[in-house]
Amino acid sequence: MKVLIVNGSPHKDGNTMVALRAMMEVFEEEGAEYELFNIADKAVEDCRGCGACSKLGRCVIDDAVNEFNEKFENADGIVIGSPVYYAAAAGRVASFLNRVFYSAKFDTTMKVGCCFCAARRGGIETAFDQINKYFTISGMPIASSRYWNGIHGSKPGEAEQDLEGISVARILARNMCFLMKSISLGKETYGAPKSEKKNVTNFIR
Ligand SMILES: Cc1cc2nc3c(=O)[nH]c(=O)nc-3n(C[C@H](O)[C@H](O)[C@H](O)COP(=O)(O)O)c2cc1C
Repeated sequence: MKVLIVNGSPHKDGNTMVALRAMMEVFEEEGAEYELFNIADKAVEDCRGCGACSKLGRCVIDDAVNEFNEKFENADGIVIGSPVYYAAAAGRVASFLNRVFYSAKFDTTMKVGCCFCAARRGGIETAFDQINKYFTISGMPIASSRYWNGIHGSKPGEAEQDLEGISVARILARNMCFLMKSISLGKETYGAPKSEKKNVTNFIR
């Protein structure tokens, strides 16, 4: 089991990381291999909408996105951590995910996805819904927990006091491991689900 964990906060050791660290502890307990991918110190350009990735098989902007996708191709699951900015995922996270998912030309079907959002007070659910959309358009089952995955805190590290949030993160990681193991067993027993030819129809014919 290989899990890739993205910390999308500009604070390497902020509140998002409190939740991700709780998840990492459980991955260790469960014997899952994990890698933390910090995008705080990486310039992440927005998608240019050039469509070059459809020919290149990777993004034309050769930065953290391509680096991540090389790892993503071999991962069984990914965790996206983001602070909540104006009731949405941080802009850097949105730019990163737009390009990751648009340029990923490998099969993401049955890779498990989940996210964790940190906020002072509100907007966790909208950011959570926003990030989960990347998974559900990509054939990726979403691991879930006992609440919508969020942790509360304002100053970096304050979320250590949110014991319920930490517990939600731990349960999420454990459920994610179970799901990844079950999918691996399912593939061995029944094979991966068959794909279909892609029909792309627009609203304007
Ligand atoms: C630009 C900006 C917008 C924010 N918007 C929200 C918000 O909509 N709701 C909220 O509860 N907190 C908001 N916050 C606070 C952060 O989400 C909160 O401090 C969070 O714990 C930061 O996580 P981090 O320490 O991992 O960076 C905002 C912070 C910034 C800098």
